[in-house]
Amino acid sequence: MTVRGTVVLGDPGFVGVLRLRSSMRLTNFAQNDTLIWGARMEEMKHTIALLLAVVSLGLAGCRSTPPPTPLSELNPQQTRGHAVFQARCAMCHYDRQSGPLHGPSLLGLFKKPALPSGAAPTDERVSATITHGRNMMPAMGNQLDEADVNDVIAYLRTL
Ligand code: HEC
Repeated sequence: MTVRGTVVLGDPGFVGVLRLRSSMRLTNFAQNDTLIWGARMEEMKHTIALLLAVVSLGLAGCRSTPPPTPLSELNPQQTRGHAVFQARCAMCHYDRQSGPLHGPSLLGLFKKPALPSGAAPTDERVSATITHGRNMMPAMGNQLDEADVNDVIAYLRTL
């Protein structure tokens, strides 16, 4: 019976009401009434679908990356990397907060699926960006040696 068919997503209240009606031997009036209920159920389904979409979007928003390691818990290499970051990168990039400065924030750089450019977040790619620069970001290959680059990457991995 169509009544049962439409009660897929109904909440218990509505199911209860419809069960009552279908057990009442459907007269024309009751059938029309049921059709109206059916239409209401369709509306409700849309509303529920919309709510579910909003809720899952909200959940996706909450599923943010884990917070950066506190500075006090960095190992020696990460601490050196932090010093390099402060000296060479901090004027253009935030590290522990989101939002752009002169370049994009590096918060969660290696925890996100992609770099701001869309490339995969690998040591090679980030090291090449630091050494050779990228668009408005200057090349720093002649100011930082390999150890500095490795240290700063070790720090970026804690963000
Ligand atoms: C003079 C400002 C400036 C400095 C200094 C600077 N950057 Fe950048 N950086 C930028 C800009 C601007 C971009 C965006 C480049 C683009 O994709 O157009 C960027 C992009 C990046 C990216 C993202 C690359 C990608 O593929 O999306 C990384 C990672 C990065 N910088 C790391 C660093 C690190 C580490 C340092 C310090 C060693 C540093 N930057 C120093 C301006 C700077």
